[in-house]
Amino acid sequence: MSERGSVADNVRQEGSGEGNRNLAAIGAPEIFQQLQKGVLGQDGALRFVSVAVFKHVTGKVPGNILLIGNSGTGKTTIMNNIQRLYYEVPEYRPFRAMTIINANLLVDSDRMEFRPERVLTAAEQRARSVLGKQPTADELKTAMERATICIDEVDKMASVVAGKPNPIGVVLQQGLLTLMEGEKVAYRTHAVVDGEEQAVTLDIDTSHMMFICGGAFEGLYDQVYLRVVKPGSGEKLKSHAIQTADGQVRIETRFALADFIKPEDLFTYGMVPQFMARFDNTVLLNDLTVEVLKEILIRSVDSPFVRSRRYFEVLNIELEIEDLAASLIAEQAEKHTRTGARALRGIFGKVANRLEFDPWRFEGLEEQPDGSHRLVITADLVRHRLGL
Ligand SMILES: Nc1ncnc2c1ncn2[C@@H]1O[C@H](COP(=O)(O)OP(=O)(O)OP(=O)(O)O)[C@@H](O)[C@H]1O
Ligand SMILES: [Mg+2]
Repeated sequence: MSERGSVADNVRQEGSGEGNRNLAAIGAPEIFQQLQKGVLGQDGALRFVSVAVFKHVTGKVPGNILLIGNSGTGKTTIMNNIQRLYYEVPEYRPFRAMTIINANLLVDSDRMEFRPERVLTAAEQRARSVLGKQPTADELKTAMERATICIDEVDKMASVVAGKPNPIGVVLQQGLLTLMEGEKVAYRTHAVVDGEEQAVTLDIDTSHMMFICGGAFEGLYDQVYLRVVKPGSGEKLKSHAIQTADGQVRIETRFALADFIKPEDLFTYGMVPQFMARFDNTVLLNDLTVEVLKEILIRSVDSPFVRSRRYFEVLNIELEIEDLAASLIAEQAEKHTRTGARALRGIFGKVANRLEFDPWRFEGLEEQPDGSHRLVITADLVRHRLGL
């Protein structure tokens, strides 16, 4: 930990005040620590993200990044946690105008036009809610120009889809790359000028905005895999040691995209080279291991177990889970490689649904001395419910 202490300590010391540190004094390791609280098992990606945030708030170099990761591995979660960071660190107040928008909303598909004002409208709404009521034209412009723009599902906007040209994808990528390069967009709105609310046109300079794009790039995995396993490709799959819940270790030869991806693979996938060149870094998210899935199950704020525990609190029942039970659920979830941490929900649901329906008839319910109850999800219960 740094000498200055963690971000959380500083937030505590400074309360909800403005904070008075120089932005350059909040280093990437501190940003990283804060993001780690909500994003598990993606330390490699978070280091890039932390540096990008640092670059953005200090304003000298752009920190645009592209997040690539299978469904349910944490792309949207990373975006949400950057937003949380901006809110929890008082010094980041000027950067709170942040928006997460789906790529397909940025193109008018009838007219085949890129619509940058849709990003700006979303940024404006955030800027207004941060600034309070009736900002001046200058205040609004400044807050919007510092915005962080997250564009989700950019992979759906490839220039080629299923072997066919996808013109709408080209329109989006061309439009975005111009915006990321730093464009002046004439943006019409209303703001206070000379003490009076008026219609104004703001010249929004996008060069200091941060752009974070994300996508699952589904076909990319197969595409690169096929390139790698093709006879004569000169590449070789790597072996990884995997530990099971029962403590055994087995060696698996698994394809990991990170081991093989090259920029050309993204061009083949349908990303325009000039668009890719606008990113400082392309960041690959890991597939989640059993260990990470277990952590997410036990302690992430919106995990199905944590939610269920809150539900039982209403009934004055304390819900607990055995360590092995959590491992077994995580192990089942890991088999659903296509949905990542989302698989936890369905699997945990199968285990918990009957308990939630009628906990009072469950033989494992224990009465406590104070009259409250305690309910433990055991490994046996999990095996029984999941038919393991
Ligand atoms: N690395 C992670 N750390 C903590 N929670 C995670 C992580 N990855 C996923 N989750 C949990 O799983 C759920 C889905 O994750 P998220 O929305 O971030 O996936 P995604 O990568 O954006 O997937 P998609 O490509 O389908 O949009 C969230 O509820 C989140 O809480
Ligand atoms: Mg997502």
